[in-house]
Amino acid sequence: MNPADTLEEARRRIGTCDDLDALKEIERELVGRKGIVASLLAEIPKLDPSERKARGQEANALKQAILGLLKERREEIEAGRLDAARRAEGFDPTLPPPRARRGSLHPITQVTRELEDLFVSMGYEVLDGPEVELDHYNFEALNITKDHPARDAQDTFYCDEEGRLVLRTHTSPVQIRAMEKREPPFRVIAPGRVFRQETTDASHDHTFYQMEGLVVGKDISVAHLIGAMKTLLRGIFGRDLEVRLRPGHFPFVEPGFELDARCPFCPSGCSVCKQTTWIELLPCGLVHPNVLRMGGIDPEVWSGFAFGLGLSRLVMLRHGIDDVRHLLDGDLRFLEQF
Ligand code: DAH
Repeated sequence: MNPADTLEEARRRIGTCDDLDALKEIERELVGRKGIVASLLAEIPKLDPSERKARGQEANALKQAILGLLKERREEIEAGRLDAARRAEGFDPTLPPPRARRGSLHPITQVTRELEDLFVSMGYEVLDGPEVELDHYNFEALNITKDHPARDAQDTFYCDEEGRLVLRTHTSPVQIRAMEKREPPFRVIAPGRVFRQETTDASHDHTFYQMEGLVVGKDISVAHLIGAMKTLLRGIFGRDLEVRLRPGHFPFVEPGFELDARCPFCPSGCSVCKQTTWIELLPCGLVHPNVLRMGGIDPEVWSGFAFGLGLSRLVMLRHGIDDVRHLLDGDLRFLEQF
């Protein structure tokens, strides 16, 4: 058979073959070691030298053409097999495997960890305290006596008939627990959950997060407090922000302040700062001598500052969240955004 006929014949056989084993057989017959192309090549030495080159080229071209047809058909058969498999099993082996869905940290956890890192880098220790707390730590030792009006402001969940046990209304009780167990000087923070028996709305929830800070040392002053708060702001907002102090009253600090920071979101007034260019950041102050005494520390020798950062509020500020209740209602559509 001449090369042209051989190619035609090959095209027909390959084109009608639909089985990979049969295709292998055809391959062997056509381009195998003892195949048709091989025999064409074997003829060449017997030819007149003037014809050899052209015949050799012809045979090689034929071989390449056949190999191309084989390859194309092999791919078609394989694809057909896949289609059949897909149809039969509803299974597509070429798809990537299903990936396990990765969760993400709650935005409160994220900010808590960032702040912990920041304060640890400044030499603070991170403390935990009980969420079910003794009235003594939540109120008495913080200079909030039984008849103090601040008790009414802190709508308390009581846990027993006698009113000895409460769900802590703030993280400040950890201050006293810290003082009882430490010799000054020391610095601590205590992030955690707190509870208030309040009617919930967009800015109040019965459960929210705070972070208490307490530094006790020699001659601790408002300047130290401001310095620490500026570092805190730099950590949260990534740059220096101006701060100001307004008087604030809390029984456990004297003097007590409300610390405001220049709005990090605008130059001249926006909805976050309610057009004032200031945002209320946190209440703070110098630790009241009675509180140091309740913690077993001599106020004649030592002094300190304390602050109570609202973590829930901070997260809302940071992400522009307009309703505090989103933080705890567990809605994945909300949580997946972080
Ligand atoms: N514990 C207070 C509250 O939750 C906040 C607070 C105010 C904490 C002043 C402080 C402080 O440490 O110095 O209402």
